[in-house]
Amino acid sequence: MAEAVNALFGGPEQDLAIAVPSDADKVETYASIRPFIEGLCADENLSALALLDLVTGVLHNAFPTFFWTGFYRRVGAEMLEVGPSQGTLGCSHIAFGRGVCGTVAATEKTRIVADVHAEPNHIACDDASRSEIVVPVFVDGTLAAVLDVDSAVPSAFSAVDQAELEAICTNVGTALSQKDLSGIIKLV
Ligand code: SME
Repeated sequence: MAEAVNALFGGPEQDLAIAVPSDADKVETYASIRPFIEGLCADENLSALALLDLVTGVLHNAFPTFFWTGFYRRVGAEMLEVGPSQGTLGCSHIAFGRGVCGTVAATEKTRIVADVHAEPNHIACDDASRSEIVVPVFVDGTLAAVLDVDSAVPSAFSAVDQAELEAICTNVGTALSQKDLSGIIKLV
């Protein structure tokens, strides 16, 4: 469904013209958003859903190369569900082992895909996606979600994105462990 609706809407064509920031520029941008992410993670008044929503918003707006940014939450023994997210439509559910997100959920290891068109185990929610990074989020050592970022630009993600997004996901996982996850994340 998502792919058809996204094709109908046209997609973010302008992103193809956007240059991928240098690693030095990425480090600077991640440093500039770190206080906001840390503030959100430390805010005891935020629900789990609001925390995930606002972290998504900070990341999505920080980099012009991010055209889909969001979480797939664990909602069953081997099932992920989309949201919160920003960008075009994501796929509603992804089983563990399916696509890049499902592979990361099953292996619990970050994956960077430089060219999603060359990746056989990739789920195309939006044909405009060209590269992707997926990072696991753990709550008390159990896989709770994955953070997925897609770009319309090939090879948009580097080791800098991996290190920075893994650090953010560690903070988010620790914050989630203090919150009520019922109806949002099922740790099974
Ligand atoms: N491409 C992903 C699916 C999620 S969307 O791109 C938002 C995958 O292969 O897991």
